Amino acid sequence: MGNVEGVTEPRPLVIAANRLPVMRNSDGGWSTSPGGLVRALLPTVQESKGAWVGWTGERDGVAEVIESEGIELHSVPLSSNEVDRYYEGFANDTLWPLYHDAIRESGYHSADWDAYVDVNQRFAVQVANIAPPGAAVWLHDYHLQLVPGFLREQRNDVRIGWFNHIPFPPLELFQRIPWRSEIVKGLLGADVLGFQRSRGARNFIAAAHQLLGATEIDDDLVHYQGRNISVGAYPISIDVADFELQASGRATRQRSAQIRSRLGDPEVILLGVDRLDYTKGIGGRLRAFGQLLDDGRLDPERHVLVQIATPTREGVEHYQDERREIEQIVGEINGRHARLGFPVIHYLYQTLPLDELIPLYRAGDVMLVTPLRDGMNLVAKEYVAAHVDGDGVLVLSEFTGAADELGEALLVNPHDEQRLQDTIVQAVEMHRHERRPRMEAMRDRLATATVGDWAKSFLDVLMER
Ligand code: G6P
Repeated sequence: MGNVEGVTEPRPLVIAANRLPVMRNSDGGWSTSPGGLVRALLPTVQESKGAWVGWTGERDGVAEVIESEGIELHSVPLSSNEVDRYYEGFANDTLWPLYHDAIRESGYHSADWDAYVDVNQRFAVQVANIAPPGAAVWLHDYHLQLVPGFLREQRNDVRIGWFNHIPFPPLELFQRIPWRSEIVKGLLGADVLGFQRSRGARNFIAAAHQLLGATEIDDDLVHYQGRNISVGAYPISIDVADFELQASGRATRQRSAQIRSRLGDPEVILLGVDRLDYTKGIGGRLRAFGQLLDDGRLDPERHVLVQIATPTREGVEHYQDERREIEQIVGEINGRHARLGFPVIHYLYQTLPLDELIPLYRAGDVMLVTPLRDGMNLVAKEYVAAHVDGDGVLVLSEFTGAADELGEALLVNPHDEQRLQDTIVQAVEMHRHERRPRMEAMRDRLATATVGDWAKSFLDVLMER
């Protein structure tokens, strides 16, 4: 175990993330959110008698302790104004676009920053109040970058880790933030900083050096104000075994066949599954598909596209604009190429449950994952894991973390319209003798890098095991 004097047990694990791993039911009770991250972390929290700190997703909520799956969830309530300024404002209108290559203009408002500081301080106080002596505290994502520093001021006995689920930008972009030094200082309060890709870790080290004079004393080890901070890459994954299990069930096979027949038994089903986010490149992908139909390189009688767009951050203007644009493109393409009863793009602006998503993945012959920038992109991994039949083609943007690991996908630059179109045609026409070895190689690699491996590798460093 770690180095708490006289204690030989593993450190209790306390998680803090913007969101709690539960959703409110219609009867007012709570149910655990689906998702590999939650499943990967809950057992360690349970066994170590730790806790989870986060927001319920509600405006003007009250502080409460929710008992779920044998662990205590401590809510951090946010006022309606804080949801506007901390969550929709600083987190999702300032940091999110900037950290994704500034593909949308960020807003820089001091009232948003002030709310971000206040909420981060409240998270730190809450964690400080409940963390057992010598606990390991694992903080998640860009919402909580100041918590490491605030927590360190209050509790020097705990080990503090932070993992960034999204990209960490190069200094040229990062330094646009008026409060850039405060953010780096906040992060340097941690013992371990984790990033999806090594370039994110390098970007952070460069920012810490340039802005605060932190020095890299060894590979992935930064020295700042008398302390060493480990900075490294920990690419996240999914629960591969669980996906495979669900994908190989009879009900999934039947549903998958039913989906294909409902779509009119096309030769090729192309599939996109994304949160409706401007980082995901949904519009460019739809336009490429439309152009291929216009040019007769794809045929509406043989090729259909299913696009699932999950509603997200609907209060933020960039998201409202993006939705309008996508729905207009879908309308235009269907207007030109649909036949009565047979749209060529089947577009759902809905959140699908996993037992509907997995059959869709299986039905998808060609998966289009074309973000302009993405920290990892777990949809790409889910598609591969769901293809227990060993078939299917993945078209994957070079600008995703997943591209580091899934090199047998058809990698594409989504800004290159012509290449994107050609790659979609290549995917549609690929012979099974080429499809299967590519899929097999990706499936083999995925099996050795699950979300459990990811959590363990980070926790080993955090817990000093
Ligand atoms: C990304 C972020 C997560 C976030 C998720 C959904 O994956 O990295 O932290 O929870 O998007 O976004 P939301 O704003 O609904 O929490």
